[in-house]
Amino acid sequence: MYTVPKLKSFSAAALDKAVEKLLAALKQEAASAKNEADWKIFRDRWMARKNGVLTEINDLWLKAAPKEAKREVGQRVNELKATVTQTVDKSRPGTATAVSRADLSVKASLGTVVATAAGPDALDITLPGIRRPLGSEHPVIKTMHEIVSVFRNLGYSVQEGPVIETDYYNFEALNFPPNHPARDTQDTLFIAGQEAKPQRERLLLRTHTSPVQIRTMEKMKPPVRIVIPGKVHRNDPPDASHSPMFHQVEGLAVDTNITFCDLKGTLDHAMKALFGSSVKTSFRPSFFPFTEPSAEMMVSCFICGGSGKRGSEPCRPCKQTGWIEILGCGMVDPNVYGFVDYDPRKVSGFAFGMGADRIAILKYGVHDIQLFFNGDVRFLEQFG
Ligand code: PHE
Repeated sequence: MYTVPKLKSFSAAALDKAVEKLLAALKQEAASAKNEADWKIFRDRWMARKNGVLTEINDLWLKAAPKEAKREVGQRVNELKATVTQTVDKSRPGTATAVSRADLSVKASLGTVVATAAGPDALDITLPGIRRPLGSEHPVIKTMHEIVSVFRNLGYSVQEGPVIETDYYNFEALNFPPNHPARDTQDTLFIAGQEAKPQRERLLLRTHTSPVQIRTMEKMKPPVRIVIPGKVHRNDPPDASHSPMFHQVEGLAVDTNITFCDLKGTLDHAMKALFGSSVKTSFRPSFFPFTEPSAEMMVSCFICGGSGKRGSEPCRPCKQTGWIEILGCGMVDPNVYGFVDYDPRKVSGFAFGMGADRIAILKYGVHDIQLFFNGDVRFLEQFG
């Protein structure tokens, strides 16, 4: 009885051989399923979700394939799935052409079938099939996953929240007072027709992932260690470095005795994990209504190594400064704890937020953020 082998090599020749063996076994087993009961056993043996041959080739061939071979193996596995499904269907006893039709889908006997069964009008089954291209992860999503996994390794868990938010979560509970000018820095896109509602209930497209800090603290008591990946919107006209829709990864740690030192140590570690152990970090004062003190963190430019120059040319990504601004951060403002019923005398914490698209741009040397969102497959498939 045929069993799916583990592959020692994923070369085209090794794949050909393995496929050929599998097809020969399929053909032979299809032919010997002479009654309904046998056929059912045959069907389950090949197609059962749990231990069927198709599941096994998925696990033993596709999942085990090294990155370079994935595309090729994926296509073969897809073709085999189609062939096996067809063969099983056609070989059911009582199907008029059971045996010869089953043969049709078995490559090994194509020659004979073409020579004997195909009339002048028959479909030319020797033509190559239509290959279904495999998808791949979007470069921005891939970058978000990388950032998230750095923090997961530090014991953080992942939280998500709604993209359509209320004024309360996006602003008020984050210590942006109503009508405060700090709201203007967010270029908010409001949902129309909300004037009749009290301000805090009005809906908008969240301008940052920070509202999920509030949503999480409302439902969890400290200690809290979370990362929040997600989509955000701002009313920015699109250009090479702005998109009205972009992505952030937020972080929040609240516990007893968390200090600015913890913030610096954590973020410095995260940047080294993301950009390489030689990058340096630097903090300078900033302002966010929900953190106090607040800071912007810079990393030394990992493109020019901090020199500001690439050979004799100026380094563009860091604008010749040797530093790249990468995130906003700070110690959670005690006022925020008031909104979520935490006791600011007992707990302290830090928060940070970074733009994932910007990090992807820097990592991959992409010159225009719009390329990420135009949906041009020729661009996107380079990241597969
Ligand atoms: N939410 C801020 C922004 O989008 C970033 C930030 C997050 C700053 C957390 C401090 C703490 O600009």
